[in-house]
Amino acid sequence: MHDFKFKNNELHCESVKVSTIAKKVGTPFYLYSHHTLVDHFTKIQKAFKKIDPIICFAMKANDNLAVLKTLADEGAGFDIVSVGELKKVKKVGADPKKIVFASVGKTEEEITAAIKAGILFFNVESLPELEEINAIAKKLKKKTQIALRINPDVEAATHAKITTGTLRNKFGIDLQTARHILNEQKKYPFLKINGLHVHIGSQITSSAPFIHAIKKVIDFIGVLQKEGIPLEYLDIGGGLGIVYHDEKPQTAQDFANAILPYLEKTGLKIVMEPGRFIAGNAGIFVTQVLYLKDNGFKKFLIVDGGMNDLLRPSLYDAYHDVVALKKSNAKKVKMDIVGPICESGDFFAKDRIFPQLKKGDLIAVMSTGAYGYVMASNYNVRGRPPEVMVRGNKYAITKKRETFQDLMRGECIPEFLK
Ligand code: LLP
Repeated sequence: MHDFKFKNNELHCESVKVSTIAKKVGTPFYLYSHHTLVDHFTKIQKAFKKIDPIICFAMKANDNLAVLKTLADEGAGFDIVSVGELKKVKKVGADPKKIVFASVGKTEEEITAAIKAGILFFNVESLPELEEINAIAKKLKKKTQIALRINPDVEAATHAKITTGTLRNKFGIDLQTARHILNEQKKYPFLKINGLHVHIGSQITSSAPFIHAIKKVIDFIGVLQKEGIPLEYLDIGGGLGIVYHDEKPQTAQDFANAILPYLEKTGLKIVMEPGRFIAGNAGIFVTQVLYLKDNGFKKFLIVDGGMNDLLRPSLYDAYHDVVALKKSNAKKVKMDIVGPICESGDFFAKDRIFPQLKKGDLIAVMSTGAYGYVMASNYNVRGRPPEVMVRGNKYAITKKRETFQDLMRGECIPEFLK
């Protein structure tokens, strides 16, 4: 499942002792396993071998260059959501013909850059956006492929903030509008509207919501076929859940077994956009104990990482396993594991039974390879932590810790205040 394991009571990433890296790079930091990334990517590839899908890593989950390069080298494509992501993924030599671009608010600059780059297709989220892409494609004299992102109005049985496929959400196009667009596509001579896209949410642990959505899409494809509208691609989005705590998510193979019959029935080229499944358990966040505080009511383990570094617990009440890097014999008690930031929402674990560690001890917040570093901020004027990758017995800093100079870049006191 992942390559963070205890050997001789010490947490290792592949063959490297995590505390050795901590000594070298300081704390806090993110750490990724090259092997886990490859393993997770390969698991999806193997499970779906029969239909050979284009697997586009949703790089919003983790956009570290080393992570992107690892996956590009395995033949991954990329699901992007901004021109920044496009520029970044070009740096690792990604094949543009395996890049798909979703986002409800693509700007003119972004559309222009993506058309020029020759991406596979845009996942279009509204009629005005479609018209904008047609106008820009006309200006560039370059016919552009489009998949319409369908909103199937399906509940995804996940956290409300990461549900995307109901009509209460801003995403996708309702079926009626999509049908209308497809029937009127002559109006958009610079577009080849030949795909459908569906993404209903994230951290979905059972196949039922996916199947529900796919069935709706298949019915819709049936309607379109009757109307003589040809399609080439079906992009089934991402959303595969992983183990954070006691979830029992489907494996890639379970998912494939459940969904392949439906996908095969469409006869379309399948595109997938997994993010968390590939990166989530391929990363940890390492932080150091500063203080153990007891206010007579509650105990708090205060560490040097904060919600600015890892937001998921604060934002979604997300559960992350926490382990001491060195197995500890210290007495275990109930405590909150918290950061130094000026908010009660700054925590990594609540009411967790955990050893009473002491200053300088190191802990790891597990399963933080997806939506970890990418959601970090400079709140409280804190530099973002470094990112490190291990491959076998080697490790390297792949992004440096931000310095005070980095944080001050571009900031000045205006003349009228001087
Ligand atoms: N495709 C689209 C169009 C998406 O919007 C997303 C995620 C994905 C693919 C990848 O989904 P995944 O396979 O990673 O579930 N920050 C939240 C997750 C937000 C997901 C946004 N969209 C979290 O930390 O849980």
